[in-house]
Amino acid sequence: MKYNPVTKEVVEELIALIGKRNVITDEEKLEAYSHDETPVNQYARMPEVVVTPTTTEQVADIIKLANQRLIPVTPRGAGSGLSGGAIPQFGGIVLSVEKMNRIIEIDYDNLMMVLEPGVVTNDVNGLVAEKGLFFAGYPMSVETCYLGGNIAENAGGGKAVKYGVTGRYVMGLEVVTPTGEIVQLGGKLVKDVTGYDLKQLMVGSEGTLGVVTKAIIKLLPMPTVKIDLLALFEDVRSAIAMVPEIMTKGKVIPTSIEFMDKLSVQTSCRYLNEHLPYQKAGAMLLIEVDGNRTEQIEEEAEIIGELCFEGGAIEVYIADNYTTQERVWSVRRNIAEAFKVYSPHQSLEDIVVPIASIPDLMPEIERISGKYDIQIPVYGHAGDGNLHATLVKNPDFTMEEWYETEDEALMELYQATKKLGGTISGEHGIGSKRKKYMDLVCSPAELELMKKIKVAFDPNNIMNPGKLIDI
Ligand code: LAC
Ligand code: ZN
Repeated sequence: MKYNPVTKEVVEELIALIGKRNVITDEEKLEAYSHDETPVNQYARMPEVVVTPTTTEQVADIIKLANQRLIPVTPRGAGSGLSGGAIPQFGGIVLSVEKMNRIIEIDYDNLMMVLEPGVVTNDVNGLVAEKGLFFAGYPMSVETCYLGGNIAENAGGGKAVKYGVTGRYVMGLEVVTPTGEIVQLGGKLVKDVTGYDLKQLMVGSEGTLGVVTKAIIKLLPMPTVKIDLLALFEDVRSAIAMVPEIMTKGKVIPTSIEFMDKLSVQTSCRYLNEHLPYQKAGAMLLIEVDGNRTEQIEEEAEIIGELCFEGGAIEVYIADNYTTQERVWSVRRNIAEAFKVYSPHQSLEDIVVPIASIPDLMPEIERISGKYDIQIPVYGHAGDGNLHATLVKNPDFTMEEWYETEDEALMELYQATKKLGGTISGEHGIGSKRKKYMDLVCSPAELELMKKIKVAFDPNNIMNPGKLIDI
């Protein structure tokens, strides 16, 4: 695909459309928009220009211009992604929604909120907490990520076991299509089967089908009782074996069942200067239950605690107040960041399998780790089958050896995942990182359909090109 450069004339036109202070061309400032949170900025590419529109009409004007001139546009949220989704693969325009961060309406009668894509996820909860409501999306980057990015990636995170992923809470979207049309999809409706569900097609489309300029999200009554259990196990296998059993044997669907192996806890604790009792434990489960009746939640916590002991837990700690809960969750949330600091050369994976297959996945990971002589620490949202196995460069390897090993070990990990009925990404997305593995998990017919959808939305392939699938 040949795109046109962003010439001086194009920059002038952009300035005429959205004003000088919303057009960034300064090299130093552009750099911040060249990467996401993927370790060592692996997929970084410099944009030619960054635009920060403030209204839907401005977004539409920019996209119309880009479509006419055949200039790629890469939509960008907070840049907290982990698969290179917001990186301008072919340069061109990065369209940052950072200035579109207004709350348009909090509709208490319908338990919905209308907001722009640049609102930080945690801020949503801050705004509705006093009314006893919350938004159930909970990516680990909740303090920085934008709603728009969550929608583009269909973020999953730490509460998906009970509450599901972001898409479940997206009721309506305003979207600027790749040809510059403004469309309203869905609405404040619990039921809506009016034609194809284009709104849910936008969810998780990684910015390849358009730019979300407004979203209607569903709020839930906030549970008033919450208990966290931190269960310590001698080894990874006994901890992981517990995961499906909590739900199948215990008949409890917790809010979260997070898994952390020893190295993950240790690394995050070091990074945060925090202390969790990981010395004797090979792995830990962080399990949360929530609801409104103390008695019931305590009972559920007890059932889970007993099951864990039966399954060989060395210790089960209870956290039933905010401060302790926050301490433990902070260790969990910061694992990825800690590994980035201490083991920068790594591949942070996002495999997902049916929950019953998780125990079979762990020996595969151990086998691959042994075969390729690399450490593969594992943590993640075990309760929904989504694990962040992280392939870490062996310090004795040259970079060349590492890249070769990474490629082969990754392929083997993906194949093992597929064999267990799983797939290559549960929440981080395909982006630049996993595009070349799409045909491992999608049939030619499925890929062909995806390509046709992309072309129907974006005939000139200007919207986040080079991601997901090649046209
Ligand atoms: C997490 C991010 C890496 O779960 O998805 O910590
Ligand atoms: Zn995660």
